[in-house]
Amino acid sequence: MFKRLREDIKTVFAKDPAAKSAIEIFFLYPGLHAIWSHRVSHFFWKHRLRFLARLVSHVNRFFTGIEIHPGATIGRRVFIDHGMGVVIGETAEVGDDVLMYQGVVLGGVDLEKKKRHPTVESGVVIGAGAILLGPITIGSNARVGAGSVVVKSVPPGKVVVGIPGRIIEEKGKHLAAIEHGVLPDPVAEAIRFILKRQDKIESMLEKRDGVHISGDAAANESSRLSDAFGEGGGI
Ligand SMILES: CC(C)(COP(=O)(O)OP(=O)(O)OC[C@H]1O[C@@H](n2cnc3c(N)ncnc32)[C@H](O)[C@@H]1OP(=O)(O)O)[C@@H](O)C(=O)NCCC(=O)NCCS
Repeated sequence: MFKRLREDIKTVFAKDPAAKSAIEIFFLYPGLHAIWSHRVSHFFWKHRLRFLARLVSHVNRFFTGIEIHPGATIGRRVFIDHGMGVVIGETAEVGDDVLMYQGVVLGGVDLEKKKRHPTVESGVVIGAGAILLGPITIGSNARVGAGSVVVKSVPPGKVVVGIPGRIIEEKGKHLAAIEHGVLPDPVAEAIRFILKRQDKIESMLEKRDGVHISGDAAANESSRLSDAFGEGGGI
C-alpha cells in the first residue's frame, strides 16, 4: 500500500511542475484524494457492496469536486490535475499513466446498461474541459485538446482537437516542412498567377477567333521569371 502511495506522489512530481513537496502533494492534491477514495469505492463495488461504494464515491465528490463512478476502472499512476468538474462514468476504463485536467468528462450517450463509456489507453493526456462520449477508444499516448468534444475513436499517438474532435498533424510535422533558406516569395507567386491566366485567355481567344496571338511573349516572360526567381518560375 505504501509502495502505491509513493508511486502516486512520484507521479504528481513528474506531471505537475508546480508540485513542491511530498507533504504538500499528500494533503493538498484533490486529484490524488479522488484516486485514493476511488480505490476504496471500487473495492466495495467489486464485492457487491454497491451502496457503500456509492457512498464513498459521493463523499469523495463532496470534498474534491471529482465524480468517479465506483464501477469505473482506473489504472496505475493516473493523475487528475486540479480536478474540479471531472466526471468518469461507470463503464469507463482508464489505462496506466493517464493525465487529465479539470472538467474532463468520460461520459455515455446510451441509456442501455452495457459498455457505454470511453476506454482511455495508457499514456493519454486529456486537456481541461474535454468531453469524451460513448464507448470509443482513445489510443495509447494520444492527446486530447482542451475543450474538445470527442465522439469517435482516436488512433494511438494522435492529437485531437476541436468540436467535434478532429485529428491534427503531430507537433513539428508541419514545421519541419519549412526551410528557412527557401522562403516563399509572394510577388513572384502573384506574377506567376497572372501569366498563367494570360496564357489561358490567349489560347481561348486563339480558339474563338482563329487569330494567332504571340504566345512567345508569355513564354519569354515566364523564362525571365524563372531566371529571376529560380525553380518554379517557368509556367
Ligand atoms: C491539444 C494539445 C495537446 C496540442 O499540443 P501541441 O501538440 O503542442 O499542438 P500545438 O500547440 O502545436 O497546436 C497545433 C494546432 O492545434 C491547435 N490547437 C491546439 N490546442 C487546441 C485546442 N485545445 N483546441 C483547438 N485547437 C487547438 C493550434 O491552434 C494549432 O493549430 P494550427 O496548426 O492551425 O496553428 C494542447 O494544445 C492542449 O490542448 N493541451 C491541454 C493542456 C491543458 O488542458 N492544460 C490545462 C492546464 S490547467
